[in-house]
Amino acid sequence: MTDTAHASASPLVDTPERYGIVSRDFHWMLAILIVYQLTTAALHAFAPDTPLERLLFSTHFSMGFTILTLGVLRVLWAASSYHHRPPHEGPPFERFSATVGQVVLYALLIAVPFLGFILLISLGHGLTVWGVTLIPEGGTPNEGLASLVGWVHVALGWTFASFIVAHIVIALVHHFGKRDPTLERMVVGRSDKPSDRPEGARPAGYLG
Ligand code: HEM
Repeated sequence: MTDTAHASASPLVDTPERYGIVSRDFHWMLAILIVYQLTTAALHAFAPDTPLERLLFSTHFSMGFTILTLGVLRVLWAASSYHHRPPHEGPPFERFSATVGQVVLYALLIAVPFLGFILLISLGHGLTVWGVTLIPEGGTPNEGLASLVGWVHVALGWTFASFIVAHIVIALVHHFGKRDPTLERMVVGRSDKPSDRPEGARPAGYLG
């Protein structure tokens, strides 16, 4: 895309100056659903068999499946706009760490619910999503697979939670500490704050 094409780009799509409506909606919708999902997991871990845990954890599978579906769409959307998204801010090491962190977050977004799904199937429970049976109960439970996958699901689930906390702290440091446009671009799209990324440091193939 040329500069003129970016200036006239639809508000739905990303440009190097801002995130479009689709990316922002995916981000905040998934943020809310994942916080809810981790709340159901925390109740399962720390307040098992309480009325609130039974109520909320009963939605863990359907919500997890919803997150998996939205997560796959989000990763596809991000990949399709890879060359015209806002660049990471800061010196090279920070930009490299931001890219690695983003890839890990996307990988966990897909891996954690996918493993939960395999766990449920290997227990022979089938899958019912918001009252609609997608895979009926049955089959011989594979307890060895279920305990391995269950362990990895739980371990990666809490790893995901710790990456999300780090992600929030880093976003706040960018906004209140470094006062750069990182957070504003994801909240309102555009930012008037100057970028601290040197012009010459844009990656090869970067079209901004
Ligand atoms: C982003 C989505 C998801 C996240 C972040 C997540 C996170 C977690 C976490 C952290 C736990 C551990 C709770 C504990 O310590 O006791 C857990 C437990 C569990 N999750 Fe998920 N989960 C997700 C999606 C799913 C999905 C899609 C399914 C199934 C369709 C699922 C099935 C389960 C089951 C059966 C347990 C209980 C495991 C056990 O008690 O050993 N999860 N989840």
